[in-house]
Amino acid sequence: AITRIKARQVFDSRGIPTVEVDLFTNKGMFRAAAPSGASSGIYGAFELRDGDKGKYLGKGVSKAIKNINEKISEALIGMDPTLQSQIDQAMIDLDKTENKGELGANAILAVSIAACKAGAAEKEVPLYKHIADLAGKTGVVLPVPAITVISGGKHAGNNLAVQEIMILPIGANSFEEAMQMGSETYHHLKVVITEKYGSIGCNVGEDGGFAPDISSVTEGLDLVKEAIERAGYNERIKLALDVSATDFCIGKKYDLDFKSPNRSGQNFKTGEDMIEMYNQLCADYPIISIEEPFDKDDWEHTKLFCSLGLCQVVGDALLMSNPKRIERAVHEGTCNALLLKVNHIGTVTEAIEAVKLAKDAGWGVVVSHRSGETEDSFIADLAVGLATGQIKAGAACRGERLAKYNQLLRIGEELGDDAVYAGDNWRSP
Ligand code: PGA
Ligand code: ZN
Repeated sequence: AITRIKARQVFDSRGIPTVEVDLFTNKGMFRAAAPSGASSGIYGAFELRDGDKGKYLGKGVSKAIKNINEKISEALIGMDPTLQSQIDQAMIDLDKTENKGELGANAILAVSIAACKAGAAEKEVPLYKHIADLAGKTGVVLPVPAITVISGGKHAGNNLAVQEIMILPIGANSFEEAMQMGSETYHHLKVVITEKYGSIGCNVGEDGGFAPDISSVTEGLDLVKEAIERAGYNERIKLALDVSATDFCIGKKYDLDFKSPNRSGQNFKTGEDMIEMYNQLCADYPIISIEEPFDKDDWEHTKLFCSLGLCQVVGDALLMSNPKRIERAVHEGTCNALLLKVNHIGTVTEAIEAVKLAKDAGWGVVVSHRSGETEDSFIADLAVGLATGQIKAGAACRGERLAKYNQLLRIGEELGDDAVYAGDNWRSP
């Protein structure tokens, strides 16, 4: 049974306060921390921050901590940690709001994850196995890593509007080999960028991708293409973009110069222009997935683009991992993959349900980190246990990113001959 819950404020990878929880049972102490993103979005679970501008510029989380130490812990002490849905429901009931705004989604999620880890220990099974059990699944699968290699958007200080260019080693034979391919390509890219932009071009963005001074996505894709060629992985590595277009949608137009100090408005694109651009990109490069190609409320163009069937179309802010929005998108055929951010929805149980909804619709599922991460590696086990087939955890560099990939390496080692790597079946392993 859960005997004690203790929360504290720690820092995330951007140096911003976040919630960490130690949850105790007879089996020991189980720790978890909440991540945080650059795009918060109005349709997601509510991240509770103190708002006291005199402290941490308003970003402290002492209220969330207090809610755990006083209210949540009182409600959960004595509960069986294997009963994840009951634990999560108890917190949802205690919170009483639609968006977890009373206790804070950051408070609820950290406890939910810590409880999940305690549940696995209680059953004496690996975390991914416990998660598979909770989801009613039998097979576990190591995901294809979507490794960020170039950063832009809100994650970097260059003028590139597109937030991420990622490489997907779908042609690898194992997760370990996928990481080898990703790591080698990353280091080749460092050389390619240095040759063209000097070593200053190798400064990295918040998720560890290089952030050279480029302003067009084709410039970035050409660099990555060159690096893949030099690494010798031409056919075996495919590409993906996270456009995060919500961040530069002004009215109904898209401003590809949104970070330029002397923006002229010349580079404003309509939804149709954007579709034309993606069309061309998919023809010129081996792009197999595009995330958030339009604004979160631009269901019309997202659907139009998706209907062309050029690549996987992933909903991030469009869906907010929210069952109601996922159901609408399934019904209308708006996109064909879910970006699962556990803190968008707020509990492990609801994350599992969101994945089920997406999988039942035949969608792809990408388990995702946030730009503000911690050393917590929970999402690695989550991706394996739910057999999502895809995980996006940033570059093959920076501790908080590697925490996830390294955990996947450990899981692969533990599974040994039983390890299944999603590979070519990345969309439906
Ligand atoms: P965020 O970015 O965590 O800053 O929202 C991640 C993403 O957009 O996928
Ligand atoms: Zn995104």
